[in-house]
Amino acid sequence: MSKTAFYCQNCGNHFPKWLGQCSACKEWNTLAEEVVYNRKKASTGLSKNEASSKPEKINEIDNSNNPRILIKDEELNRVLGGGIVPGSLILIGGEPGIGKSTLLLQISLALKNKVLYVSGEESQQQIKRRADRIQDNSDSCYILNETNVEAIIKHIRSVRPELVIIDSIQTLQTDAIDSSPGSVSQIKESASHFLKYAKKTNLPILLVGHITKDGGIAGPKILEHMVDVVLHFEGDRNHIYRILRSKKNRFGSTAEIGIYEMLNNGLRQVKNPSELLLSNSKEPLSGNAIASTIEGIRPIMIEVQALVSSAVYGTPQRSTTGFNSKRLNMLLAVLEKKAGFKLGAKDVFLNITGGIKIEDPAIDLAVISAILSSNLNLSLKKGICFAAEIGLSGELRAVSKIDQRINEAERLGFKTLVIAEATKVSITPKNIKILKYSRIEDLLKNLFREQD
Ligand code: TYD
Ligand code: MG
Repeated sequence: MSKTAFYCQNCGNHFPKWLGQCSACKEWNTLAEEVVYNRKKASTGLSKNEASSKPEKINEIDNSNNPRILIKDEELNRVLGGGIVPGSLILIGGEPGIGKSTLLLQISLALKNKVLYVSGEESQQQIKRRADRIQDNSDSCYILNETNVEAIIKHIRSVRPELVIIDSIQTLQTDAIDSSPGSVSQIKESASHFLKYAKKTNLPILLVGHITKDGGIAGPKILEHMVDVVLHFEGDRNHIYRILRSKKNRFGSTAEIGIYEMLNNGLRQVKNPSELLLSNSKEPLSGNAIASTIEGIRPIMIEVQALVSSAVYGTPQRSTTGFNSKRLNMLLAVLEKKAGFKLGAKDVFLNITGGIKIEDPAIDLAVISAILSSNLNLSLKKGICFAAEIGLSGELRAVSKIDQRINEAERLGFKTLVIAEATKVSITPKNIKILKYSRIEDLLKNLFREQD
């Protein structure tokens, strides 16, 4: 007879009966009924010997013969903090069709080490076809079409790979539990099997995770706690750029990002993002402004485009690509209150080129400048770029890593960089002028071209 329990979709705790609120994590409406039984049989197939543990002194633990596996993909190496750590469990999430399987197949084919690529979504022929498309081949990459956790572990033991890729965690199913693949308990149990296996045998495992409507990884929140690294592969499917971001990394910084282009023959690393993301128009256009941003530790110059027009319908529209719309509303409110621009009855559209989502607040000033420029129908002066955050009272605020921003802007031939008055600059660049302003009003006086 099957036994059921109510699993919290958020934290993964289970209860014998349904509750409106999970008493563990206090989230509402997250309990769903799932079938459980056979729990006793849950096992990773480890022998008693392997499973035995023993406390060791920290200064006696040997970590020297445990080098990270370096992948050919420098972007991913950097995001991971310098290659894959042996025994780590890495979760990579992203929207359907964004290119997770492509990225992982590319890595598998480029690696000299033995890799086992397990797919529960595509057949071996489909994967071979994709490998042909990205014009790569390898004699150390094994493809397995399997969804049963115990069977996968058996194959891992016989193939003895140095890296395992599982596409995706939501298709897996373990004999230990009877609920259907993709359910909270299946995901949790399957992931914990691989977690144990990875830690005991020092084998790194990469898991692909589907994401939900709200952008979180589907399954229990505990999945993200269990793994060592959580990566998000994001981008706008209508654009070619993709960003790999790390949300959690036990072995490195989470500030790093990797940038790729999705081409006809696979993903290509983008080494010089600034040059690609700037349009080549010779004459400045109204509504365009260039921001000097830093993502991770890399400076990226990025173009912001705004269009301000009178609202045709009653309620003005605000639409953004690659920028937080709440932040846009805040900036518009600041412009209205502090700089006297009546944008309340205007439609405002804002676009970050390449559909790349920038999290650096230094983009604020370029956003404001682009909006003002479109509203006034005046273009900004040539060769100008911006790096400052905007505060609620309309003041320009200093941003970090200003020297790097200056160097990048200078390298790309910009003539002027506008920053906040309070920014501390420690270098004296030769070919770029640094303008320091403290309020939005200063921009208006000095930065726009005369109408001709
Ligand atoms: P895929 O890796 O299957 O995405 P995911 O695993 O995240 O769901 O990527 C599928 C998309 O990428 C598909 O829409 C086609 C596109 N694509 C290319 O543009 N070029 C290529 O070389 C490949 C293999 C895919
Ligand atoms: Mg896929």
